[in-house]
Amino acid sequence: MQGVDPAWLPDEVFRPIGTRRTLIRGSGPLVDTVHGEVAGACDRFGGRVERDASPGPFDLVLELTGADASEGFTFERGDGCTTVTATGQSGLLYGLFHVVRLGEDAFRKQRPRETHGPALALRMLDHWDNVAVHPVMGQVERGYAGGSLFWQDGRARGELLGRVRAYGRLLAACGINAVAVNNVNVHATEAHLLTDRLGEVADIAGALRPYGVRTHLSVTFAAPIVLGGLSTADPLDDDVRGWWAEASARVYEAIPDFGGYVVKADSEGQPGPFAYGRSHADGANMLAAALEPHGGTVHWRAFVYNHRQDWRDRTTDRARAAHDHFVPLDGEFADNAVLQVKHGPMDFQVREPVSPLIGAMPRTRLAVELQATQEYTGQQRHVCWLGPMWSEVLRFRADGECSVGEVARGGLVAVSNVGDDPFWTGHPLAQANLYTFGRLAWQPHADPHQILDEWILLTFGTGPAAGLRAVLDGSWRTYEKYTAPLGVGWMVQPGHHYGPSVDGYEYSPWGTYHFADRDGIGVDRSAATGSGFAGQYAKPWAEMYESPDTCPDELLLFFHHMSYGHMLHSGKTVIQHIYDTHFEGVEEVEAARDVWASLVDLVDRARHARVAERFEEQLRSAREWRDQVNSYFLRKSGVPDAHGRRIY
Ligand code: GCU
Repeated sequence: MQGVDPAWLPDEVFRPIGTRRTLIRGSGPLVDTVHGEVAGACDRFGGRVERDASPGPFDLVLELTGADASEGFTFERGDGCTTVTATGQSGLLYGLFHVVRLGEDAFRKQRPRETHGPALALRMLDHWDNVAVHPVMGQVERGYAGGSLFWQDGRARGELLGRVRAYGRLLAACGINAVAVNNVNVHATEAHLLTDRLGEVADIAGALRPYGVRTHLSVTFAAPIVLGGLSTADPLDDDVRGWWAEASARVYEAIPDFGGYVVKADSEGQPGPFAYGRSHADGANMLAAALEPHGGTVHWRAFVYNHRQDWRDRTTDRARAAHDHFVPLDGEFADNAVLQVKHGPMDFQVREPVSPLIGAMPRTRLAVELQATQEYTGQQRHVCWLGPMWSEVLRFRADGECSVGEVARGGLVAVSNVGDDPFWTGHPLAQANLYTFGRLAWQPHADPHQILDEWILLTFGTGPAAGLRAVLDGSWRTYEKYTAPLGVGWMVQPGHHYGPSVDGYEYSPWGTYHFADRDGIGVDRSAATGSGFAGQYAKPWAEMYESPDTCPDELLLFFHHMSYGHMLHSGKTVIQHIYDTHFEGVEEVEAARDVWASLVDLVDRARHARVAERFEEQLRSAREWRDQVNSYFLRKSGVPDAHGRRIY
């Protein structure tokens, strides 16, 4: 689309296909999409594409051999021809994008038949988009990429089809197959998307469908009251169940391939089953029953905790909440109810342990939720490539044996970082997070650094690749260094969560404390003397986290309250670690900014300028973090920096 960044699908990546002869076999709407892609490439580069039985020879054959819903494909090259086969239409589309990713390599040497397919059936983005601008949260809650892609001025955007279709194309090219189009906090206007404003959702679904992306909707648990005029939303009430069944049937009349509902219930003030003395399984199962005849799924979020805590109360630990609420319900959820769990026990901090809930519900379909939108990781003003963090999460052996990537049978979800910004993600380099998410959802054990390379080459070509790698590769750890130390988290400005405020949440009701005093810092979550959170883990993690001797440095203050003089495994004291990492973090940002500046002739001007401008803000902000955090701890502890650097 004109004026919109092609992201990882610049025309150039289609050249190897567009200069050759391609045969496409099979029929159906997604096969037409494949044909359109190849035909477009041939128009640009002079090649040819044929449908069905045409005389050869061909360089590329894309063949649909069945009519199932499989997303996998085979790929091989022999006798001068590259062949992709799939038994399902979306498999053929993913096969095409596989060829695009390989570029000329797809046409070079012989390759024996390879089979490809996604490890996880659901690979989803949740948009926290509001239809009507929210007075506090704006058009997109925690959005850092302009307005919403879908909604503007209180309705579905007029130019929807072009831009949303282009979005669907980008998503398909990295393997994402589902999108929830509105915020999990469902306000009054948005509630109506389920009923009288369903047509707008159907329009969005229509724009995404040609790229194999299914549409989901966040709904309010109170819908039978606010939309249906009933006096209750009790999940065991027959009228309530009947209302949901009818509403869901109408949704499927309008959107036959509708994916299902996303629900935030009894969480941060949203309505839920607790009001009626019912369990979360009762609530989720009611919606599951309404969706079941149509093949839909309910994604029920596990982000349930007391957000009105008294900070004086040391017996309540927010980290424990999801496990406390949901583990007793294991085995009670319907087959088409998926429990959607944030990857960490708190809230998308730059460093958290993996949520112990993930390994503790073997009889429940879980989806793991990541946050691509950089709420706590620099808000797309800072470079922070999250691939290594997500990969650590996905490889973590949640129950002591199976990895999170294996346990997440309900899929992988990320809160979207996309808006109507011309670069899609505000910070052009934040596109790497979106791409990496899609590829990791397809293959959770893939090497994130290879995925990064793939994204760099597709998006920028080879010229600036080494520089981009240098800028992005370690950016998550750099961000961690200059912000909250050793897993303690928070220390952000309350409300909008950008920039440092060491005590910003210390005396708040949100359950997010660090307990720093003149002697030490951190939260005792051990079973022996603390909140007992460490005991929620399977072995060997429970034992490892229980003791400061075995707890990994980077999570030490998440699990333990330690003195400033405590010696870390790294050989540094806690306080010296704080000083050193904060100085280093800023130096690393300075170095990354310089590398970026050196790429000026290798990257297109608009993109280069946007990133250069964001680097200035990142550096300003990183210095602010460094100086506030270091000064705070110098003043609290009275321990000077061993290297005598400037602290205020
Ligand atoms: C965080 C975030 C909220 C969001 C919530 C959620 O608390 O700050 O904006 O609504 O997570 O995931 O539901």
